[in-house]
Amino acid sequence: MFKKIAVAVSAWLMGVGLAQAAAAPDGGKLYAEHCAVCHGANGTGGIGVPLALPSFQGTISDDYIRKTIKYGRPGRVMPSYTYLKPAEIEALVHQVRSWNQTKPLIFSGQAIKANRAHGADLYAKECAACHGASGEGGKGTGVTFSRPRDLPIMAPALNNSGFLASAPDAMIKLTLMQGHEGTPMESYLKKGLSVRDIEDIVSFVRGFEQARLGRQMDKATGQRPVIVRDSPYDLDTTVKNVMAAVNNNNFFYGRVQPLEYGLTAPDKADPHQVIVY
Ligand code: HEC
Ligand code: HEC
Repeated sequence: MFKKIAVAVSAWLMGVGLAQAAAAPDGGKLYAEHCAVCHGANGTGGIGVPLALPSFQGTISDDYIRKTIKYGRPGRVMPSYTYLKPAEIEALVHQVRSWNQTKPLIFSGQAIKANRAHGADLYAKECAACHGASGEGGKGTGVTFSRPRDLPIMAPALNNSGFLASAPDAMIKLTLMQGHEGTPMESYLKKGLSVRDIEDIVSFVRGFEQARLGRQMDKATGQRPVIVRDSPYDLDTTVKNVMAAVNNNNFFYGRVQPLEYGLTAPDKADPHQVIVY
């Protein structure tokens, strides 16, 4: 079981006044501490997709980076950083943007209404091979060490709640029109699709949102199997409480380990994200 815990709530509330007095957070340091292990020291990629490519940065908004850091990609390798303060997330956005001169884009949040059924056909033909038949992403749990050698960059999950909450339709559309040069993600305008076709695919990808909610509902109880709770306690206390609650309900826990266990050197693993098995 993976328990996500937000302990930064009170700090956020006080943060406004204090932030001005304290020095601005150091984006470079925060990046080295939280992101470099997966995305590379200079954003060139590794376990995580490359972030520094102009072709990627030229299709996204700052808001996309901000929300991706905040929500992560639940169930994939990309963690959510709910405990970082807003000023720290801004510093990280700034750091990610510092690697090239690409101008951040701003997208409208408006939904693209198009032919979803046609989008489904096109998706099956053009996208499923890399992103999975249901948008589940490249094989493995986000990124595996056994990814195909001819595909050095893992195709992200498109049916992911973190992705769908971060990427507006207009951004997905631009990504399909331009592609990310330097990665396996090609321009579908260049590959011969029309803007109409691309909009049909976008509306199909957006449809993953409803499909997900449907799947998550446990038919017997009407409750979702994934439970998210904010804890008023610090992380250590919260983990102890979770362990006690498990014991008190006649289950047993196997171990507690950092989320990044096995992905990074033990002393580099982020102590703020843990899994209670
Ligand atoms: C040959 C494999 C391949 C095919 C085919 C492909 N993609 Fe991708 N796609 C990728 C990879 C790899 C990335 C990550 C690129 C990066 O790191 O910038 C990506 C990135 C994306 C992104 C950005 C999402 C994110 O989290 O970075 C979207 C949206 C996307 N693809 C949608 C599609 C759709 C829709 C199709 C079909 C029209 C498609 N892709 C076809 C491999 C592919
Ligand atoms: C444990 C590894 C890991 C860490 C740590 C990590 N990421 Fe990621 N990140 C990933 C992976 C893997 C993906 C692709 C998502 C997928 O596979 O579905 C990703 C995706 C992203 C994306 C979306 C990229 C795209 O092409 O759309 C952004 C932006 C991002 N990460 C930023 C960050 C930042 C900033 C940090 C530090 C605060 C961070 N990540 C920490 C593994 C990681």
